[in-house]
Amino acid sequence: MKHHHPIEPVENVLVTGGAGFVGSHVAWLLCELGFRVTVVDDLSTGHRAAVPPTASFVLADLRQVGTINQVFAERQYDAVMHFAARTLVGESNTRPIDYVRDNVGTLCNVLQAAIDHGTRSFILSSTASIFESRDGSDIDENQVVSPGNPYGESKRMCERVLFWAERSHGIRTAVLRYFNAAGAKPGGDLGEDHRPETHLIPLVLQVAQGRRPHIDIFGNDYPTRDGTCVRDYVHVLDLADAHVRTLIALRSSGALAYNVGSGAGYSVRQIVAAAERVTGRPIPTIMRPRRMGDPAALVANSGKLRRELGWKPLHSDLQTIIRTAWIWHSRHPGGFGSSCLPFPPGAGSPSAVDPPAAQPSD
Ligand SMILES: NC(=O)c1ccc[n+]([C@@H]2O[C@H](COP(=O)([O-])OP(=O)(O)OC[C@H]3O[C@@H](n4cnc5c(N)ncnc54)[C@H](O)[C@@H]3O)[C@@H](O)[C@H]2O)c1
Repeated sequence: MKHHHPIEPVENVLVTGGAGFVGSHVAWLLCELGFRVTVVDDLSTGHRAAVPPTASFVLADLRQVGTINQVFAERQYDAVMHFAARTLVGESNTRPIDYVRDNVGTLCNVLQAAIDHGTRSFILSSTASIFESRDGSDIDENQVVSPGNPYGESKRMCERVLFWAERSHGIRTAVLRYFNAAGAKPGGDLGEDHRPETHLIPLVLQVAQGRRPHIDIFGNDYPTRDGTCVRDYVHVLDLADAHVRTLIALRSSGALAYNVGSGAGYSVRQIVAAAERVTGRPIPTIMRPRRMGDPAALVANSGKLRRELGWKPLHSDLQTIIRTAWIWHSRHPGGFGSSCLPFPPGAGSPSAVDPPAAQPSD
C-alpha cells in the first residue's frame, strides 16, 4: 500500500489517544510517512502494544494540566491530533457529567497547552453522533446539529471550544466527524480491541470465533431495507488518510469541518451475512426489541472531503473492512497481549490482503 502525500521532512505531531483503535492506526500512517510522532495516552482503554515502535510514548492522564505542560515542554509540536476521549454512547447516558467533564476538560487542557506552546494546528476526532438522526437521506455538514446523547453533546461542545479558540488565538483547527470506524491494518498486527467491545463488526467476528454464542439484533421493524438499523462503516486506514490530508490542508487554511464516512449504508443483517461469507462460519442472531435512542439510519455524505481534499475511501468496501478485521481477530483471538497466531490457521505467515475492491458508492 502506497500513500503519496507532499510532506515536509520532519514535522512533530502529538497524537493523544494514540494507543486506541483509531489513534494507533493514524499514528502508524504518520510514522510511515516520515512524521515524528509522540503518543500520549493513559491506557485507560488503549494498549501500549498498539503504539507504533517508532513513535515516542508518554503515559499520562490528560485530565491533569501539569502532565500536559510537561509533554509540551519536551518538544515543539507542529500539530496535535486529539483522539483521547470517553467514547461509549450507552455509558454516556448513565454518566453524562463524567462524559462532559472529561471530554471537554481534556480537550481544553490539551488545546490551551497547544496554544501556549505555539502549536500551529489542531485536529479533533468528532462524531456523527453530534447530528440530529436522519431516517432517509445521507448526512452532510449542513445537517442540523442536535446530539441525541451526552457523548455526542460532549463532542459538540469540543467543536465549539475549537471554534472560539481559533477566532481568539489563531490556532488552525479541524474537526473530523467519523461515522463507524472499522477494519484493521492489513497483515493483522494492529486492530480493534475495545474492552468492553460495543461495536458491531468486532462483536460479530467474536461470534464467528466462538467467543460469543450469538449476536443480539436490536429491532427489526425500522423503516430500512430489512428492518434492522443501517450504518456507515469507514475503514480505519481511510480515516487515517483523511487525517493526513487535513493536516496538510491546515498549512494553508483553517476552521475545517468534514463528515467522514464511506457513503454506503449497511444494515445489521447485511453485516452478519457478509461476516458469514468472509469467515465461512455461521453467526447465530437473536432478535431483541429496539434499543432506546438508536436512529434507523446514519449514512455520511463525505462529498465535501472528497471535493476539497481529494479524499477517496480506498479500503471501505464491506468485504475489505470485514476481511482485514477478521485477519486481526484471527491472529489475536484475545486482542493485544494475546498470542499472535498465523492466518489463515496453519499457514506460516499472515496472508496478504487483496487489492481493495471498488468502493460501492463510487
Ligand atoms: N470508533 C469509532 O467508530 C468512532 C466514531 C466516531 C468518533 N470516534 C472518536 O475517535 C476517537 C478515538 O476512538 P477509538 O474508537 O479509537 O477509541 P479508543 O477508546 O480505542 O481510544 C481512545 C484512547 O484515548 C485514551 N484516553 C482516554 N482518556 C484519556 C485521558 N484522560 N488521558 C489520556 N488518554 C486517554 C484511551 O486510553 C485510548 O487509547 C475518540 O475521540 C472517539 O470519540 C470514534
